[in-house]
Amino acid sequence: MAKVTLYPSEEVIEVRDDQNLLEALRDRGVYIKSSCGGVASCSDCIIKIRSGEDEVSPPPFEELALLGNVFHITKERLACQTYAQGDITIDISDHDKQKDQARLQSKTSSQHRKNNPAIKVRKKDDVRKIYDERRAKREEKNKASQNEDWVRHWEKNKENAGETDSVPRPKRLGGGQRPKPFTYTKDDDESKD
Ligand code: FES
Repeated sequence: MAKVTLYPSEEVIEVRDDQNLLEALRDRGVYIKSSCGGVASCSDCIIKIRSGEDEVSPPPFEELALLGNVFHITKERLACQTYAQGDITIDISDHDKQKDQARLQSKTSSQHRKNNPAIKVRKKDDVRKIYDERRAKREEKNKASQNEDWVRHWEKNKENAGETDSVPRPKRLGGGQRPKPFTYTKDDDESKD
């Protein structure tokens, strides 16, 4: 069991060494932002190691791919990929539940939509109408393409040539004759002498 001190609350929690910090903190009701559920793809769960940086597990490949190999400068780690192997202090001041909720709400609020006219909110009926229109257009296009001349140009050629067979003959583009086989006669021998 390792002791993890949380900054700024100074709360101390005990963490098993087979449990990553994200799980451990969540088990104790401490809020840590996360969108990917702990699979090292969102980088929302970043925490700072204030002390005991030698007492944490080394970053795995997935974490290095997200944050780069700069821990010695930034002291930042992904909580979901970090295991405490000794007593450490971590800074979780960036993880404020109320702030995150307010930000999320403001993003989805009607006022936000009014301020950003690029955001379109369509009602179900409107969406169905658009789908119907698109389907009608597609069907019309398919019908038109079936009647177009270029699709049946071979039939047109056949009619002009007065052909009746159903399989159109491929057009010969010159050089259609076979080369004559080489023949050897007695006269050739005599002419040499
Ligand atoms: S929870 Fe998404 S990267 Fe850690």
